[in-house]
Amino acid sequence: MNFFLETLKVLILSIYYNLEAFVKLFIPARRKSVSGETVLITGAGSGIGRLMALEFATKNVTLVLWDISQEGNKETAHLVKEKGASSVHTYICDCSKKPEVYRVADQVKREVGDVTILINNAGIVTGKKFMDAPDSLVEKTMEVNALAHFWTYKAFLPAMMASNHGHLVSIASSAGLIGVNGLADYCASKFAAVGFAESVALELLAKGKDGIKTTIVCPFFINTGMFDGCNSKWPRLIPILDPTYVAKKVVDAILTDQVYLLLPKSLYFMMALKNIVPTKLGLVLGEYFGAFNFMDSFKGREKKE
Ligand SMILES: NC(=O)c1ccc[n+]([C@@H]2O[C@H](COP(=O)([O-])OP(=O)(O)OC[C@H]3O[C@@H](n4cnc5c(N)ncnc54)[C@H](O)[C@@H]3O)[C@@H](O)[C@H]2O)c1
Repeated sequence: MNFFLETLKVLILSIYYNLEAFVKLFIPARRKSVSGETVLITGAGSGIGRLMALEFATKNVTLVLWDISQEGNKETAHLVKEKGASSVHTYICDCSKKPEVYRVADQVKREVGDVTILINNAGIVTGKKFMDAPDSLVEKTMEVNALAHFWTYKAFLPAMMASNHGHLVSIASSAGLIGVNGLADYCASKFAAVGFAESVALELLAKGKDGIKTTIVCPFFINTGMFDGCNSKWPRLIPILDPTYVAKKVVDAILTDQVYLLLPKSLYFMMALKNIVPTKLGLVLGEYFGAFNFMDSFKGREKKE
């Protein structure tokens, strides 16, 4: 095809897809059935991992719950069974350790079968300024928040590709789209998670594996305890999110095959701004939105004795 024809095609498609997106604002999206699917959630022992498991509890899926904490994971299993889930399997897995991810993944394949919906959710934060963060914690952050996603994909994607069916979900963060003062290692890990998920999604499309859907989730602070102490400067504009709301939105995004989910909605606008305004204005806006001070009052989750 020559330059003129290809450009014309892109222009026509731009108009078509913009109109389609506009019309879809007013028509509720169709939700797919996940009945019979096998859903693996990493970091299912607390926070939104647990709440997503609870959302899936009534959807006739097989739940595979991974966490480093046996206690938290068992509690989640108990709660989802109480809510009606009949097939629940718990595994202790330290996702920061590649051999452990592969070992537990093999165990899941033997004992439960192939995973068809993979939710990479386990995450940690050091909450220290970069030069104060011990190397070991910086490395651990990268291992849990980013590298673990590589190993779970390597373990579970081959079966999805063979059947051209599945869904890959990355619980990243708004910190995977924009740098934050005081979150350098966390942001690096979340940028990596976003870039990885986005790139594999493209690889799958290029291979014609359009039956494997992807969802990348980028929320602002959620009230789970992970970022305890952090505040939003303008809570009406950028609210600290309710964990149950986030879990519901993520599961809904999976059911509607939504590729990107940014929460709250104002983030879509802010991300667009970040990329178009002059750098100096970007810094003024960053200060206005409180991005320089989000972490000033960070306490994080209380460590258990
Ligand atoms: N809380 C927020 O403000 C916020 C905002 C944006 C994104 N996120 C992301 O959402 C995800 C869930 O966060 P949350 O707020 O529910 O946190 P959380 O601390 O409540 O839950 C994280 C879970 O991951 C588990 N985990 C930690 N290290 C692990 C490891 N090495 N192997 C296996 N499991 C491990 C923990 O035991 C815990 O159950 C994380 O990826 C986080 O980065 C959180």
